[in-house]
Amino acid sequence: MTDTTVDLTPQERDADLDLDQLKQLVGLVEYDEARDPFPVTGWDAIVFVVGNATQTAHYYQSAWGMTLEAYSGPENGNRDHKAFVLRSGSIRFVIKGAVSPDSPLIAHHAAHGDGVVDIALEVPDVDRCVAQARRMGATVLDEPQDVADEHGTLRFASIATYGETRHTLVDRSRYSGPYWPGYVERTSTYQKREGSPKRLFQALDHIVGNVELGKMDEWVAFYNKVMGFVNMAEFIGDDIATDYSALMSKVVANGNHRVKFPLNEPAIAKKRSQIDEYLDFYRGPGAQHLALATNDIIRTVDELRANGVEFLDTPDSYYEDEELRRRIGEVRVPIEELQSRGILVDRDEDGYLLQIFTKPLGDRPTVFFEMIERHGSLGFGKGNFKALFVALEREQDLRGNL
Ligand SMILES: [Fe+2]
Repeated sequence: MTDTTVDLTPQERDADLDLDQLKQLVGLVEYDEARDPFPVTGWDAIVFVVGNATQTAHYYQSAWGMTLEAYSGPENGNRDHKAFVLRSGSIRFVIKGAVSPDSPLIAHHAAHGDGVVDIALEVPDVDRCVAQARRMGATVLDEPQDVADEHGTLRFASIATYGETRHTLVDRSRYSGPYWPGYVERTSTYQKREGSPKRLFQALDHIVGNVELGKMDEWVAFYNKVMGFVNMAEFIGDDIATDYSALMSKVVANGNHRVKFPLNEPAIAKKRSQIDEYLDFYRGPGAQHLALATNDIIRTVDELRANGVEFLDTPDSYYEDEELRRRIGEVRVPIEELQSRGILVDRDEDGYLLQIFTKPLGDRPTVFFEMIERHGSLGFGKGNFKALFVALEREQDLRGNL
């Protein structure tokens, strides 16, 4: 293996993904890790704080087809909170909820509601990353340290990003436990319905961060300078504006493009942008949506709907627009199949992608999911932003927040 060859991570190998499939699914590219000041292998885990982890963990199993694989809670010595580790393909979600009324998670949840507190990344060298982060002025929240149990030693550190979000940097090359020292292996008690697919999504494609007006470029610079991320694409102003709401967005990615972070800020428009609504209800910057990659979005969306997951409606006018039809060209399914499900299509010079967005996952209009099926396109659905925003604004208006 040379420096410039991307390989599957252990998580991806365990999930039976193959490299060609993954290149298609999430747009993986080859790159030279040796020249990266802050090498990132891929996602480690997405950590959520929620109001009721017990029930949320059930929801991710029953509605999203995820598999429970580890647990930490009062029964094994964690008197502060319960944490459930769930998996789908190469993605790991950790769902935490306070048990003790004195848990620091209570204050976090009171401020932000259900949301993402940690976008943990797998790195080959924690110390090298933290040295670079410190050199570039990042806030180090946890110094590099080892934690160990009978499964080995895990090395980690964490740095601050936007709002109260952090990146924990994890080297699990000497660790074989189910997740983290202190966690025990645990399997689902939830029984999947007969004929349900093994999983509904295979990998995580990108996580969007919403930041305050005027802060987007600062965070782009943070990812460029501190973490060595490269700029992928740029959407500015009118590109993604409707009459009433607008935003600006830039996208950064790690060297192999496994980890992609679009960063949004609100733009001035006649009415409040959906980003303003997020910032109000999350009480500051935070993770807005997680894009989950699937190789069969039709089947995935049908299953999710059958499980009660709600998606944003796409107006029929979107599919009937002649210009859009011309631009889309041939895709793998008839457009009627997409229309009946509200799945959006976008095409660029590299190929096309299919995507759809859920309604907010929790009570506040903050975090939601996107399902994405890529066919060559490395974009984020720029051509759909306007159609999407019209749909989003209809929902925002219904909530009285437009
Ligand atoms: Fe997205």
